[in-house]
Amino acid sequence: MPHSDNIVYAGPENPGKVLSEYIGETEKNFFLTDKNTADKCYPIIQKLFPGLNDEHLIVLDAGDDEKNITSLHHIWSFLQHHGAGRNSRLINLGGGMITDIGGFAASTFKRGIPFVHIPTSLLGMVDAAIGGKTAINLSKVKNQAGTFARAEAVIIYPQFLQTLPRDEFLSGYAEILKTAIAFDKALFEKLLQIKGGGSLIKNISEDIIRRTASIKNEVTTGDFHDRAERQCLNFGHSVGHALEALYFSNGDEIKHGYAVAAGMLCEAFISKQILKLREEDYLEIGKYILNTFPNVSFREKDIDSIINLIRHDKKNYGDDIRMSLIEAAGKCNFGISCPEGIIKDSLKHYLEITGA
Ligand SMILES: NC(=O)c1ccc[n+]([C@@H]2O[C@H](COP(=O)([O-])OP(=O)(O)OC[C@H]3O[C@@H](n4cnc5c(N)ncnc54)[C@H](O)[C@@H]3O)[C@@H](O)[C@H]2O)c1
Repeated sequence: MPHSDNIVYAGPENPGKVLSEYIGETEKNFFLTDKNTADKCYPIIQKLFPGLNDEHLIVLDAGDDEKNITSLHHIWSFLQHHGAGRNSRLINLGGGMITDIGGFAASTFKRGIPFVHIPTSLLGMVDAAIGGKTAINLSKVKNQAGTFARAEAVIIYPQFLQTLPRDEFLSGYAEILKTAIAFDKALFEKLLQIKGGGSLIKNISEDIIRRTASIKNEVTTGDFHDRAERQCLNFGHSVGHALEALYFSNGDEIKHGYAVAAGMLCEAFISKQILKLREEDYLEIGKYILNTFPNVSFREKDIDSIINLIRHDKKNYGDDIRMSLIEAAGKCNFGISCPEGIIKDSLKHYLEITGA
């Protein structure tokens, strides 16, 4: 079901006015946060709306492990015990963990109540809160149950980023870079001027956030159920998700964006072999990724396991591994069949250039 633009931008000069259209001080609103966003972000909302009913605040522990069936049950029960009805609204104030589980809870409670996302992480603002996918993890496997459901509004208020930890910021930046490489050459060239390190945070302008959010909104509006072009948003994610799963199976954790950055480097290498991405474009992308994100470490003997994990990707078709690859910066193709040997070469090459 295609839908129109539901993104609302709140600037520093009038956030209360913008937010009040969707939040107001109504008794019917419920807020979902995790412990960090309850601590750092909810007070900002409270300041704007002093009459808010704090009894309607639901607080989960932070971290992706909490995006589970127990937390979902807790949200449903809370809504039920506090008399939420079809005309109540759930306001999801947090990063992608909160908007994913909050969207799922709202879209299924009493067969669906309205919900608003207020993303507070960079990844949430440019990616997770946009496009209507909701989910929880099952038995530690990511996003196994969920719905396609549209938020009434996604309110982007970049002031929230001031308290976001630096590694979370950098992780979100990988999704901005992915969107640029897959869809918008001009945006990619703008990003190339931004250096990593401490200055990254102050150099991400509101314009860059808006442009990235609007690309995600456009693409997902045109392909709401992820059957075609939306798959290009997964550039870097076939390898990236497999690296995340490898870490997870070893009992380690890795930031999603760092795995996606390594995945983009490998998939740019594969794009060079299959879609004839020019060598100089590959080198430019590779150099920028290596200078901006921490290396992901794995061993040569892990490569077979990584290939097996890539085989579980939802974009595959039977035994055929399919990826979204680029023919040039800003030009992505989806559903491209990738021979296993080329994927292995890309991983070996990653090990060589990173010395990991
Ligand atoms: N639905 C989609 O289309 C989609 C797309 C991409 C990712 N996702 C999902 O998004 C999730 C990852 O999102 P994320 O990176 O935002 O993770 P997250 O929600 O876990 O947030 C990361 C950390 O930052 C903290 N935080 C968030 N905002 C803060 C702020 N303003 N100040 C201080 N701390 C803050 C959180 O408490 C958490 O500890 C994953 O579950 C992923 O599957 C969904």
